[in-house]
Amino acid sequence: MNRTLQGLTYFVRTFGCQMNSHDSERVSGMLEELGLIQSDQEHADVVVFMTCCVREAADTRLFGQVSSMKNLPAPESGKRIVAIGGCIGQRDGDFLFEKLDNLNVVFGTHTIADLPSLILEAYETGKKVSSLTDKSLVPSTDLASKREVDFQAWVPITMGCDNFCTYCIVPYVRGREYSRDFDQVVGEVELLANQGVKEITLLGQNVNSYGRDLYGKPRFAELLSAMDSTGIERVRFVTSHPKDLSDETIEAFKNTKCVMPAMHLALQSGSDKILKAMNRKYTAKHFLDRVNKLKAAVSNVALSTDIIIGFPGETEGDFQATYDLVKEVNFAQVFTFIYSKREGTPAAKLVDNTPREVIQERFDRLVKLVQASAYDNNLKDLNNTIDVLVEGSSKRDDRMLSGRSPRNSTVHIPLPDAKEVKDFVGKIIPVHVTEAKTWYLRAEMV
Ligand code: SAH
Ligand code: SF4
Ligand code: F3S
Repeated sequence: MNRTLQGLTYFVRTFGCQMNSHDSERVSGMLEELGLIQSDQEHADVVVFMTCCVREAADTRLFGQVSSMKNLPAPESGKRIVAIGGCIGQRDGDFLFEKLDNLNVVFGTHTIADLPSLILEAYETGKKVSSLTDKSLVPSTDLASKREVDFQAWVPITMGCDNFCTYCIVPYVRGREYSRDFDQVVGEVELLANQGVKEITLLGQNVNSYGRDLYGKPRFAELLSAMDSTGIERVRFVTSHPKDLSDETIEAFKNTKCVMPAMHLALQSGSDKILKAMNRKYTAKHFLDRVNKLKAAVSNVALSTDIIIGFPGETEGDFQATYDLVKEVNFAQVFTFIYSKREGTPAAKLVDNTPREVIQERFDRLVKLVQASAYDNNLKDLNNTIDVLVEGSSKRDDRMLSGRSPRNSTVHIPLPDAKEVKDFVGKIIPVHVTEAKTWYLRAEMV
């Protein structure tokens, strides 16, 4: 252990997707191994920003955040180290030092393991240092990790992405798809279950293609099937790509007891013309065929999705096709994004003349529809007894427990008198659903 950093404090601020959240756990784990202690953004000696550039908004926010660190008084040790990692670190590299004069360290998506030595060097020498090796290198997946909660865990199964959807920056900042070894993944889930973890989420940009690079064919169905014998109680997974969602995976989804009846199946658009321009490699008909197969296999499946509104060239007719398909599927949750041009992606070269107001109006129309379908999905659990994994108390009421149903709805449960929130956190309890709202369920303990 290095004495220089012993006793200093750190803070990790995370933007972006679950991949980044998981990477942040590794960053925290490594910093704690170095002897640093967790603190907050204002007081920490070492502040690490784990960044996202999937849309412009995330990009702009980061620069403000890092810049404003200059206005804070120096931490107790007298020196503050500011580091940028994650996807903007990977994309912009040393160029970030030119834009942000209070930045000390830059690292990328494949060089997390270098962070301790970078921080040490920056702290001791005052130099600006970075590590951004070739993206094609195999990422290190077995670093120390410090989880924020002890009953849930992320388990990465693939890193990177080979799909090159024309709007998306992810393949450029996360590199080529790389699958972790099958036995290693299963072993990790067993270990987590033995440590008392109740729910794991298998992570990948396209979980359905898991194993293709290692075994010559996807083995996601087998991986799901292997989960029941690990002792884990709940398994979730993100994200499923419709083009690779096989019949075998749907069978495994149906037959594996610990796998929760919820699937995030990213649609992006319901127009075949736009899907083609996006390089998604499926049609609306194929998507609907997969959905119908899923519903036939798992009747209470909760489907969620991502939709992009305003992709270049999207007409009212294209939007209507998206609207109709979203309506037909009746998603439990839809993440709706306005198209954001990302330099370096093929779509950035496309011209678009659709006025901003027209895009916004389509966005609003879709959001309204989604509210109705979210409510309709929650109604399916009304008056039923369901198992809820309690995550904590509700943000608004500390006598109200908050947890997740198998279908991934938020559930609020009044705390019985003489009981405390901590008596339930991390436990799976049966509850009776008494009320369905658009964004949550209310339930009583049984
Ligand atoms: N691998 C996942 C998605 C990762 S990015 C998948 O394919 O489903 C998460 C979501 O961000 C995408 O599904 C997409 O809807 C959205 N997104 C990605 N690039 C975008 C862009 N340039 N503009 C707007 N939304 C975008
Ligand atoms: Fe991006 Fe497409 Fe890969 Fe998802 S599948 S990360 S949207 S390129
Ligand atoms: Fe963002 Fe990188 Fe994830 S760009 S969405 S943090 S892979």
